[in-house]
Amino acid sequence: MNDVEYLKSLLGVYPDFPKKGVVFQDFIPIMRDPVAFETLITHFMHHITSHTLRNSQSSKIDVVVGLDARGFLLGPILALRLGAAFVPVRKQGKLPGKCTTASFEKEYGTDSFEMQSDSIKPGQTVVVIDDLIATGGSAKAAGELVAKQGGKTIEYLFVIGLPFLNGHEKLDAPSYSMIQAS
Ligand code: ADE
Repeated sequence: MNDVEYLKSLLGVYPDFPKKGVVFQDFIPIMRDPVAFETLITHFMHHITSHTLRNSQSSKIDVVVGLDARGFLLGPILALRLGAAFVPVRKQGKLPGKCTTASFEKEYGTDSFEMQSDSIKPGQTVVVIDDLIATGGSAKAAGELVAKQGGKTIEYLFVIGLPFLNGHEKLDAPSYSMIQAS
């Protein structure tokens, strides 16, 4: 079994959560196993250094943007290892001070994400991270916040991808999902 197959075997899979028809993919069990969690972080670091940076012709990542809420569990670790800033994107109304806002479609209605103003300097290179990409709406909104502040998203990173939802098609930069769920 390779690393990705091993990590996939640890996922929690919950049919009909949080509602009927959704198969919830839970990466939290990986965090309970320090060797598995280290494997996951090392895999992302290897991907960023050997693919993301080479393909984008950037020499470094300046900012890791993590999405509310499970992106907060991964983003700061990668940011420290990369020597990059960590910037959280939160649901509207949670961050103090002046904020940049972008709205996105949810299954029912819309929601808004915010990033504190001046979190990203014009021209800085950014990776956006979350645990899972479904329809891609929240990642797209995060990319809009990066663009509004003048940053350049070079890749979107996810532990889990749901390829049948084609979420990556909404995004303005390449995406990488470590594990494909079905
Ligand atoms: N967010 C949206 N769809 C999800 C799923 N299937 N599992 C976990 N988180 C999700």
